[in-house]
Amino acid sequence: MRPACIRLSENTQILYLIFSLCHYTQAITIQVPRSPITAPVQGRALFSVDITCTGTPAIRWMFSSVSKQQSIVAWMLGGAANVTKMYEGRVQTHPNGSLTITDLRLQDSGYYTITVTEPSGNSKDVCMVLSVTEVLYEDIQYFIVFIIVLGTLAAFLMLCMWLLNKLHNFIKAWRQRRCLPEHNETELQPL
Ligand SMILES: *[C@@H]1O[C@H](CO)[C@@H](O)[C@H](O)[C@H]1NC(C)=O
Ligand SMILES: *[C@@H]1O[C@H](CO)[C@@H](O)[C@H](O)[C@H]1NC(C)=O
Repeated sequence: MRPACIRLSENTQILYLIFSLCHYTQAITIQVPRSPITAPVQGRALFSVDITCTGTPAIRWMFSSVSKQQSIVAWMLGGAANVTKMYEGRVQTHPNGSLTITDLRLQDSGYYTITVTEPSGNSKDVCMVLSVTEVLYEDIQYFIVFIIVLGTLAAFLMLCMWLLNKLHNFIKAWRQRRCLPEHNETELQPL
């Protein structure tokens, strides 16, 4: 009786192992970068994902922010992508399921969710955060203000120098006019 009992428990262990292995391989995994994505206005953002699953999955990317929720693009991996009209010309889909959005606007800041659905119907989703920054514009504004201040300062200095020069010439002419008779006398003396 005893050896049979042991065999049974070994078998159950092996069965359990096979079951957990199957379960493990069937699970969808989506690996994404841990850090939030930051990009400037008019720049581009890559939502990079590494997907493992069984069969050819369907991919869907959704955008959600405080004010709205919007589908961006959906496609079967390897097939043609169905891009939402709002995003036409601004999105690129990659063979690995990743998504690139170009010509970013401030309103694009928010949550981007990828949903991977296996042919069997299993699905999983993962969320990523994008923040679009205005840094570029601020820099340009500061630069323009800096140039205007420098230009004004240079113009003011040039005006001052021109005025000083005028004043100097005026004083010189006035002195010469006042001294002219004496000069004439002193110049005439040697003759
Ligand atoms: C997915 O593909 C894109 C474009 O080829 C690439 O830039 C990105 O690094 C890839 N992501 C991963 C996780 O392999
Ligand atoms: C593309 O998506 C829209 C909205 O999700 C849907 O109405 C349309 O049927 C889809 N087109 C194709 C070709 O899958």
